[in-house]
Amino acid sequence: MVADVTDENSSAETFPCRVCGGLVRQWFDFGPQPISNAFYRDGDAVAGIRYDLVVGICRSCTMVQQRDECPRESMFRPDYPYRASGSALMRKHFEQVAEWLLATELAGPDPFIVEIGSNDGVMLRTIRGAGVRHLGVDPSRDAAEVAAAEGVRVRVDFFEESTAASIRAAEGPADVIYSANVISHIPYVDTILRGVAELLSPTGVFMFEDRYLGDIVAHSSFDQLYDEHFYLFAARSVQAMVAQFGLELVDVAHLDVHGGSVRYTVARAGVRTPSPAVRDLLARESRQGLAEMATYERFADRIVAIREDLVTLLRELRAEGKQVVGYGATSKSATVTNYCGIGPDLVPYVCDSTPEKQGRLSPGSGIPVRSQDEFSRPYPDYALLFAWNHAEEIMAKEREFSERGGRWILYVPTVHVV
Ligand code: SAH
Ligand code: TYD
Ligand code: ZN
Repeated sequence: MVADVTDENSSAETFPCRVCGGLVRQWFDFGPQPISNAFYRDGDAVAGIRYDLVVGICRSCTMVQQRDECPRESMFRPDYPYRASGSALMRKHFEQVAEWLLATELAGPDPFIVEIGSNDGVMLRTIRGAGVRHLGVDPSRDAAEVAAAEGVRVRVDFFEESTAASIRAAEGPADVIYSANVISHIPYVDTILRGVAELLSPTGVFMFEDRYLGDIVAHSSFDQLYDEHFYLFAARSVQAMVAQFGLELVDVAHLDVHGGSVRYTVARAGVRTPSPAVRDLLARESRQGLAEMATYERFADRIVAIREDLVTLLRELRAEGKQVVGYGATSKSATVTNYCGIGPDLVPYVCDSTPEKQGRLSPGSGIPVRSQDEFSRPYPDYALLFAWNHAEEIMAKEREFSERGGRWILYVPTVHVV
């Protein structure tokens, strides 16, 4: 039960928990939001879709989750534009993950790995290079074609229980089921976990990494909330979730990527001894107050303050005749621009290296996406860094901008200029 003394008399809204059926208490309402990866052209039907981004925490299992879901076919369309390989940092990260898996869980005879949400094959290409049996599952056709062109095997499909059953029937059980930045995207997580339980070999592991709730709260990174981040996982809520499917959380590892993530390792209950890291992270979460409503009430106040400070700054700069351009057409930027009411009047365009996004308009805000090359033609006075999780890589690439007096605007953990 979430520790919350004021709860009995509270008028706060509640809704049912997607994981355990308990009562979720709402702590923030961002209002109507678009599909965060719907970078659109005029006339695209997907551009008009809106849903209410309402977030709460379950009083029983502590899962932080959204109330409303977007249809999965609207989010993960055949032309879904996100490309996992778009960042050098992430390419390196997934290469290291693959090499570590090859040296450990996949070191036995004829190992088999399934990846849920393999996107452009950024992780599996190393597995394929080693000649190990693998299968990616991803509904985003265009991204899967990029993977296939590199010899990675992909099934263009949504992973769920029936997909898992047919993979098992055709190819046998998996020693590793791996997934990065996908499981938290899936409201219908019950069929995913039933599928995992069906496909996993008796001693196999299910490993998934996602943005970590503890980091999001600590850094006030409210822009990690958008349609695709339906859940914000923590060790405690993941442990409770997987236990319902005969699975057990046996290891956790904190990762620096995407502003702070955790890789959860799950096995069949009783098969592996949980590592001390699980106990340590659970203790840390309770010290941080991650199960307490008051923590989210304070977070909510910080979100409101960031909106005020950011909009005030952008209006002041506009009044001074300074040009501010966005950098990184991220999904995160959808929440920032739509919640704060930032449109082309304050940020006339955003530069991004992804060809699939360029020439399109940002979801909801209509801010046009231009290529990264256009950033210097001419340099703006300020750049609003929506891809703050890639700050190091981007600031190094754009050193000349700073050298010529350009300044970066960041909005987490607070609005500041560097
Ligand atoms: N793993 C990559 C891509 C993450 S983007 C990375 O970490 O960068 C999320 C991906 O999950 C998209 O490619 C999307 O098409 C895919 N996806 C969404 N729902 C899925 C499902 N039910 N089964 C398999 N893949 C799914
Ligand atoms: P990312 O933060 O990974 O994703 P999310 O959509 O989950 O918020 O997205 C980074 C975006 O920034 C992506 O569209 C590519 C772009 N980008 C650049 O334009 N230049 C760069 O140097 C890097 C690293 C990313
Ligand atoms: Zn619950």
